Amino acid sequence: MAAVRAATVEDVSNVVAVHAAVAAEGRWIGTEAPVDFSRFQRLFEASVAADGSLLLVAVDGVDVVGYLGLYPTVPGVLGLGMALAPHARGQGTGTALLAAAVEWATAREGVHKVELEVWPHNMAARALYERAGFATEGRRRRQYRRRSGELWDSIVMGLVLDGTSPGSPYDDGLPGSGAT
Ligand SMILES: CC(C)(COP(=O)(O)OP(=O)(O)OC[C@H]1O[C@@H](n2cnc3c(N)ncnc32)[C@H](O)[C@@H]1OP(=O)(O)O)[C@@H](O)C(=O)NCCC(=O)NCCS
Repeated sequence: MAAVRAATVEDVSNVVAVHAAVAAEGRWIGTEAPVDFSRFQRLFEASVAADGSLLLVAVDGVDVVGYLGLYPTVPGVLGLGMALAPHARGQGTGTALLAAAVEWATAREGVHKVELEVWPHNMAARALYERAGFATEGRRRRQYRRRSGELWDSIVMGLVLDGTSPGSPYDDGLPGSGAT
């Protein structure tokens, strides 16, 4: 299993390389090849620098073999993206990255939830998130146009960190509505 630590700016080009390699597989993450390296270099660098974001790397010796990013989406909510190089999978590294990220988000003032989207066919990732306590919140149908022209569904998952604040007082008649 690779070791997990916070990324530095020096790691970012290696993170982009992992991101591009996983994108080239064409089936696990939203980004598709060919990857715009300079765009992702800027995005990942920004998440290292920004106070409300987190970039973790999984390292095997000096090699970056995976990453996990958390970034603000709506107030109090962090979006999550992660990927491991193919040779680094299935050894518990994803579990370790996710545990470290959830610990960071839980300790962070004002954060009440972590959210993500995953392709429905990505059973390893869905199982990983479920084991970490994420719930499936829904399926977005034909949400994403792929470069092939296909329209792929996604599964929305969330980990609620604040279960004590009151919910909406308004009942809409659907299960889970009202002050739940
Ligand atoms: C998804 C990913 C991050 C998981 O990380 P990982 O290090 O491989 O995961 P772990 O080794 O910690 O755990 C893998 C678990 O998934 C299980 N698993 C593997 N393939 C599976 C499948 N097809 N269905 C269900 N579970 C599966 C393994 O048995 C293992 O469970 P266990 O710990 O109970 O044995 C990694 O595989 C990856 O980077 N995949 C490609 C990119 C990706 O999908 N990113 C997520 C986008 S939402």
